Amino acid sequence: MKYLIINGSPRKKNTWKIVKQAQKSIEGDFEEVHLIAQNIPICIGCMNCMMEGEENCPHFSKVNPIIEKIKECDGLIITSPVYAMNVTGLLKNFFDHTAYFYHRPEFFTKKALIVVSTAGAGQKKVANYIDETLRHWGFNKNYKITYACGGKDTLETKGIDKTAKKFSDDVKSRKIHSPKFMDILYFEVWKAMATSSDPIKADKEFWFSSGLVNYDFSPKVKLNPIKKAFSKLMYFIMKRAIK
Ligand SMILES: Cc1cc2nc3c(=O)[nH]c(=O)nc-3n(C[C@H](O)[C@H](O)[C@H](O)COP(=O)(O)O)c2cc1C
Repeated sequence: MKYLIINGSPRKKNTWKIVKQAQKSIEGDFEEVHLIAQNIPICIGCMNCMMEGEENCPHFSKVNPIIEKIKECDGLIITSPVYAMNVTGLLKNFFDHTAYFYHRPEFFTKKALIVVSTAGAGQKKVANYIDETLRHWGFNKNYKITYACGGKDTLETKGIDKTAKKFSDDVKSRKIHSPKFMDILYFEVWKAMATSSDPIKADKEFWFSSGLVNYDFSPKVKLNPIKKAFSKLMYFIMKRAIK
């Protein structure tokens, strides 16, 4: 199994120590991307990625090699310490550069392990934010390790090991989990937008060329009859709302 680690901390300290511990329970090969070393300029808000296609981003040459690595990996490990009750600016800047995935989700078979450290607060909120972002990208299943370092001299490893093993076993199994209703809703929102009478050019191109317009969700992910019906209903409602 191939794992990609995207480190959103600017240093290799508390968060990294947790990653190193987690790696002991994960079987596979690891590649590391430390965002601090990537020197991705701040997103300038040109909207080119969303409107014209991601290859038109002025920072495409910096961002795309990381995206290609995500495409190639079996499992993603993504990390951030809590900074002012949110992710680091480093990780947020990366997320800003990949916001087009909200419109054009791709990673329907991917699983992630989210690692968040903090002094004392915000870890759940930040892990949930990363989870939400990845789900918008299409991710199938995300695991979370959240850890408050304040006042602890030694790393408590039990919870880290348990979650890391679960993640590793799941990646190895290649099982595809059923999506949440919210994931289906967003899928239908963007599908309805892409098939509207005035679609965003890049979105229309993506949804039609990938064939996703013909499905209730990615064909790589099985929906039970209730979720299928929910998907069709959402599309119907969205089409009417957009009209
Ligand atoms: C700029 C900055 C903002 C921070 N904000 C918070 C915060 O809002 N809440 C908190 O509990 N810890 C906060 N911390 C503490 C870090 O989250 C904590 O020390 C973390 O484990 C550092 O991880 P690292 O060693 O990987 O950098 C902050 C630290 C920095 C440098």
